Amino acid sequence: MRLLSALPRQLSALVLVLLMASTALAQPAQPTADTRSLLPVPTTVRWGTATLKPRTTLRPQFQGPPDSATSAAVTRTLARLGLTAPIKNQSATTLPLQINYGKVGRPEQFDEERYSLRVTPTGITIDAPTTLGVLHALATLEQLPQREGRNMVLPEVDIQDQPRFAWRGLLIDVARHFMPVAVIKRNLDAMAAVKLNVLHWHLSDDQGFRVESKTLPRLHEVSGQYYTQAQVREVLRYAAARGIRVLPEFDVPGHTIAWQAAYPQLASGDTLYKTVYQSWRLANVAFDPTKETTYKLLDTLFGEMTALFSDPYFHIGGDENDGRQWRGNPHIMAFAKAKKMLKPDGKTLDKHALQTYFNRRVLTILTKYNKQMVGWDEILGPGLPKNAVIQSWRGKKGLYDAAKAGNRAILSNGYYLDLYLSAANAYGTDPLPVDNPLSVAQQRLIMGGEATMWSEFADSVIVDSRIWPRAAAVAERLWSAREVTSTPDMYRRLATVSRQLEGLGLQHRRAPEQLLRQLAGPTDVGPLRTLAQVLEPVKEYKRHFQGFTYTPSTPLNRLVDAAPAESDVARDFNCRVDSLMGATGALADRGSVFTMIATRRNAVAMRQQLQTWQANHSKLIPRLGSSPTLTEYAPLSAALSAAAALGLERLALLEKQQKPEAEWQAAALKQLDALNKPAGQTELAVLPAIRRLVELK
Ligand code: ACM
Repeated sequence: MRLLSALPRQLSALVLVLLMASTALAQPAQPTADTRSLLPVPTTVRWGTATLKPRTTLRPQFQGPPDSATSAAVTRTLARLGLTAPIKNQSATTLPLQINYGKVGRPEQFDEERYSLRVTPTGITIDAPTTLGVLHALATLEQLPQREGRNMVLPEVDIQDQPRFAWRGLLIDVARHFMPVAVIKRNLDAMAAVKLNVLHWHLSDDQGFRVESKTLPRLHEVSGQYYTQAQVREVLRYAAARGIRVLPEFDVPGHTIAWQAAYPQLASGDTLYKTVYQSWRLANVAFDPTKETTYKLLDTLFGEMTALFSDPYFHIGGDENDGRQWRGNPHIMAFAKAKKMLKPDGKTLDKHALQTYFNRRVLTILTKYNKQMVGWDEILGPGLPKNAVIQSWRGKKGLYDAAKAGNRAILSNGYYLDLYLSAANAYGTDPLPVDNPLSVAQQRLIMGGEATMWSEFADSVIVDSRIWPRAAAVAERLWSAREVTSTPDMYRRLATVSRQLEGLGLQHRRAPEQLLRQLAGPTDVGPLRTLAQVLEPVKEYKRHFQGFTYTPSTPLNRLVDAAPAESDVARDFNCRVDSLMGATGALADRGSVFTMIATRRNAVAMRQQLQTWQANHSKLIPRLGSSPTLTEYAPLSAALSAAAALGLERLALLEKQQKPEAEWQAAALKQLDALNKPAGQTELAVLPAIRRLVELK
């Protein structure tokens, strides 16, 4: 930028224009550190100018107590980088990969995760206090390769890095849709790649109890699909070898129809459930908290499960019990009255008091088994012991209230992947922004956060596409410094990580594409892909209320399931509109030459894109008409075509430097509003950007 200011004014404007044109999608107003492809951004990075030669092989050398998981991780990294010794290649040079660590790290003990990584032309050195740091250094190393001619090379670099938060999690709900071990394992690989370190395994809910229980076998028997205890141990080993701890969740006292189908004596209500719940509606059932048999059963089960799961933390849920079953049961109300758990009116149940009683009983059980209790923010309130950890999902208030009350806390509100909100939305959610209301001591109680993948609308086939790459934006928010906030730069690196994850075996791009091919049947998949790429499922919880009642057995194989959670194509188009607005606004006073240069590249790309969309509908009509599962999407396909036509009209005026007639503009906007109607639980993600284009004065 200093160079620019030294140039003559006219020339510098031209340079600026060309820069903008050449980096069409970057935002020139936000310079960022050169972080290349690293995600999460490390604490400090000093790039050199040299590279480690291509056709090098690396010979690992360890200094530290022997650890088979760490040496296996090194072998994996070298294989992924293609730096293992070739079978037959005499020309390869061998350089040292020196790995120094103090001790074997235990994630569940919050052992240190920091590391330094130095790449020079003569070799690579990793230094870390624990093997956890070594694993993170390897994850960073795997993101370093950059293209040099026809080769991928490792650039010279010196990195010092440590996480901002110690708890960086991903919740996977395996109760609503069961996720086989292979799904969990590949997601653990992805977590390790972006330095997430807690798998929160949501193992039970109304729709299923997913772990084999040897003491209470009806729990898994009524659920059908479950993990054997051997499989659980296999997952725990796999996670531990990647520096990831596993937090099991057994959600009580609500979300427990599956338990009640197995053991009806747990119920507060008089409904007898013969099977696990076959609906997604909030059931508001809860255990009977007054019966000693309830705690006896929980003691038996938790005795077994606390031994199976090695992490010192144990999640007991506690969410979404509105107390209606308790209020409706005279025996429970009598208990509450005797224990003075009524509101001041002397009649109404103080639901919180009764649930706190339940929580304290559960806490006593967990304490006996040396576990620390974690629960959703509903469990916070008077009487909750200070050693319970609160996971805040309903808002940030729960997070801060927990810390103010002296409880440790984890943030999930803002990181709900199942709501189909953008990566930018999650990225902008900081557990501790500068203006947080906590004292320094209270801030220390904020352990971090967790992205959550609730699986009502995600089965084992498409779940990766609902988690990735957006969870990586959460990973960066929780690892990198608070000041790392450039959203365009995050998206640039997210695209690279997305490709990296595919190489690790994640199905987030492959599975939707496969589904599209099935839906396209014998026809060319191209037009269907063009439509799907600009659709997004309707946001938040709207999918439950769009004229289609889903149940656990509804197949997730419609166009909505192939649509991305966040449309890259729509976002790119929106960035082009931004660039266009920047060019027409900032440079308008510099005359038509500059404006033309700035907009030309964008305009060409936008015209091509809009033409493709406009023409797409007629190509898709035959398939939309012949496939019953696709017919409901015909209005969206037509709307895309019509909206694109309006965008093209506005673009043509722009290119001719003509202002739109006010009447044309008003009519066009009205038409766009009319086109903005969801169908098949999806909406056209590109409509807002086309609207902004049409709105340009
Ligand atoms: C939750 O989403 N009910 C924790």
